[in-house]
Amino acid sequence: MMGARIVLSTVGMGLALMAGSAAAGEAWRDPSLSPDERARLLDAALTLEERIGLLHGPMALSLDGKPLPAGALGGAGFIPGVPRLGIPALQETDASLGVTNPANVRPGDTATALPASLALAASFNPRLAYEGGAMIAREAVSKGFNVLLAGGANLARDPRNGRNFEYLGEDPWLAGIMAGESIRGIQSQGMISTVKHFSLNGQETGRFVANAVIDEAAHRESDLLAFQIAIERGRPGAVMCAYNQVNGAYACGNEHLLNGVLKGDWGYPGWVMSDWGAVKATDFALKGLDQQSGEQLDGQVWFGPALKQAVAAGTVPEDRLSDMARRILRSMFAAGLFDAGPARPPVDLAAHGAIARQVADEGIVLLANPKGLLPLAPAVKRIAVIGGHADAGVLSGAGSSQVTGIGGDARSVPVGGEGALAFWGRMVFHASSPLKALRARLPGASVTFDDGRYPAAAAALARASDVVIVFANQWMAEGQDAYDLTLPEGQDALIEAVAAANSNCIVVLQTGGPVLMPWLGRVGAVLSAWYSGQQGGEAIADVLTGAVNPSGRLPITFPAGADQVPRPQLPGWGLLPTQPFDVVYDEGADVGYRRYAAKGLTPLFPFGHGLSYTTFSYGGLTVTGGETLTVRFQVTNTGKRAGQDVPQVYLAGIGGQPLRRLIGFEKLALDPGERRTVTLRADPRLLARFDEAGRRWRIDGGPYRVVVGPSAAEAVLTGTAAVTPRTMAP
Ligand code: BGC
Repeated sequence: MMGARIVLSTVGMGLALMAGSAAAGEAWRDPSLSPDERARLLDAALTLEERIGLLHGPMALSLDGKPLPAGALGGAGFIPGVPRLGIPALQETDASLGVTNPANVRPGDTATALPASLALAASFNPRLAYEGGAMIAREAVSKGFNVLLAGGANLARDPRNGRNFEYLGEDPWLAGIMAGESIRGIQSQGMISTVKHFSLNGQETGRFVANAVIDEAAHRESDLLAFQIAIERGRPGAVMCAYNQVNGAYACGNEHLLNGVLKGDWGYPGWVMSDWGAVKATDFALKGLDQQSGEQLDGQVWFGPALKQAVAAGTVPEDRLSDMARRILRSMFAAGLFDAGPARPPVDLAAHGAIARQVADEGIVLLANPKGLLPLAPAVKRIAVIGGHADAGVLSGAGSSQVTGIGGDARSVPVGGEGALAFWGRMVFHASSPLKALRARLPGASVTFDDGRYPAAAAALARASDVVIVFANQWMAEGQDAYDLTLPEGQDALIEAVAAANSNCIVVLQTGGPVLMPWLGRVGAVLSAWYSGQQGGEAIADVLTGAVNPSGRLPITFPAGADQVPRPQLPGWGLLPTQPFDVVYDEGADVGYRRYAAKGLTPLFPFGHGLSYTTFSYGGLTVTGGETLTVRFQVTNTGKRAGQDVPQVYLAGIGGQPLRRLIGFEKLALDPGERRTVTLRADPRLLARFDEAGRRWRIDGGPYRVVVGPSAAEAVLTGTAAVTPRTMAP
C-alpha cells in the first residue's frame, strides 16, 4: 500500500512538470487536437534514437540477479519514455483477472483477484465484464501502471487448452462482446488495454512453434470475428499478436493478419505489440508488428540497433518507423496518458471485492440437480465436505494471469516439473474457504471436512452424513494443456466411492474448462464453479445454500466423451519444444456447439446450459427481417423464486440449410410471475458468410430460421424471416 502511494505521487509530479513546460512549437500538447494529429506532431519531434526506443522493451523483472530496468515499476513489461518531450514510460502489467505481481517483483503487493475469464463469460453479463475491467484498471492506476495486458479473446477450440480459463468460451459473439466490454471498462480509467493473442493461439502444447492451419473464410467467421467485435466495442490501444504461426507465418510477422486484416480491412489505428518472445526477425516490422515486447525472451533485440541498421540500409522505410511510433503515441493520447485526469479517490478494496463476488455469483453454473438436492434444505444437519483444499480456499489457474489476491494466497502447493513449466508450477488457492463459508451460513449444522486423499475414509464420512459435497479440482496453467478431460489425481474414483456411500452427493467442480463425468448418473447435483476468484468460497456457499440463485450458463460445451473432441490426440503432444507441427482446424468456423450441431453429436452439457432454482418459460415470438433479424419474445419466471435467466437466440437455418449460431442473448432478472419482453437485433455478420474471393461478408437469400431456447441444444420457440441479400465490408 505504502509503495502504491509513492508511485502515485511520482506520476502526479510528472504531469505537473509536463503542464509547466508546455511551450510554443509543442503543439502536440494541445488536448483539443485529435490523437492522430498529436501523434503526428510528436513523432516529428522525435530523433531516430528516441523513435526506436519506443519500439522495443524488456520484461520488467529482475532476471539472473540483474536489477530491474531503470524506471520500471516491475511487472510484465516496460518501454522507457522520452523525458525530454514528456512522453511517459509504458508500465505494463498482466491484468486479465486482476493486477499481477509476477515472482513477487513488487514485494508484498496484492490486488483484487477476479474469477477466471471463463467464469465471467459464464455470467453472460456484459455489464460485469465492464465493471471488472474498470475495477482492475483503478487498482493498476493506483500502482502506477498504464498498459494492461488483458482482453484474451481466443476461442476455446479445444477443451484441453491450458488457457481456456483466461478466455471467454467458444462463441465469437459472446467472446467478442465480453472482451470488448472488459476492454472498454479498463480504458474508461485512462489506461491502455490490449486484446490478445491475435490469432488462433488455440493450444499451449508447442505454442512457440505450432502452425494453425485454417481456411480464410472460416477464420473470419470465428476467431477473427471475436477479435473484430472486441476491437469495435473496446477500441483497445494495442493488439498483442500470438506466439504461434497462422497458415505458415508467425502471427507477429504475418503480413496477411496484421497488415491485411487488422490494419487494412478493419482500419485498426492502434499498435501491434508482440507476445513475450514471439519475434523472430527485424522484418516483422514490414509485416505489421509495431513493437517488440519482453525482448530478453527473443533471440535478439530485433527492434533495437538491428532495426536502425535496417532503416539505414533502406530495407525498412523511415516512414514505416514513424508509422510504428505514431501508432503507439496515438493510443497513448487516445487513452489520456499525457493529460492529467481528475484526482482519483483511493482504491475501495471492499467495493472491488464485491465485484469479484458478483462475477463469481453469476458465473457459477448449476449443471445438474435432478432431485432438487440444491439448495440445501434447512433440515440438513450433517454435512461432509470432501477434498479440493476446500478447507483453505478456492483454486486459481496459473501462468502470467495469476493474481496474488488481497490477503495473499491461502495455500500454495508445488506441482513440480522442469524447465519453463516449473516457473508456474504451483496450485494457488485464494483465501476464500468454501468450508468456512458454509459453516458461517449453517450454524445449526455440523460441517465436517475430509481432505479426500483416501476414498474409503471419505466414503465412511459420507455414510455418516445427510449430504456430502465433494470439491473436485483440475489445475490448469499457461504453457501446458490437459492431456485429456479426466479429473486428475484419482478424483473420479473419490467421487464414485463417496456417491456409492451416499447418493446425496453434490460435486463442485473447480476446473479450467470441461471435464468428463463418468459418475454423473450416481450423484445428486453438480456445480461448475470454474476458478472463482478471491471471494469464490463465499459465492459457492451462497449458491449451495440458496442465498444466491444460480444464473451462470456454459460458455463452452462439455463433451460426453473423449471421442467428441475435434482432434482426439492433442497435436504436437510429445514432440520436442522446437519441432514445428500443424494444428489443422478442419472444423473451420464450426467451433464448439456449432460442430456438435453440424455432426449431430449430443454433448454431456451443451453450450448455454445452466439451471436455476426457479423456472422460466418463453413465448410470443416475432421475427422481423430486412437489413437484419430482429427477434422479440417474452420471458416469464414461472417458479417461486426470483432469478436471472439468459434466453438465447440462435440462427438455426439459412435457405433450408441447418446450422447453429448464437445471434443474441440477454441476462435478465425476474421476480416470481414477472414477464418481460426481450428484443434483440442480430449483428448482420452473424447472418453472413465470409466470401474469400470477394473479401466481403455476403448475406444470401433466406429464409432465415431462428430458434429461442435455454441452450444451444434446446429450441423452445421457432420463427422465420427474410433478410435482404447483400455484401458488406470485411
Ligand atoms: C503471455 C501473455 C502475457 C505475456 C506477458 C506471455 O507469456 O502469453 O499473455 O501477457 O507473457 O507476461
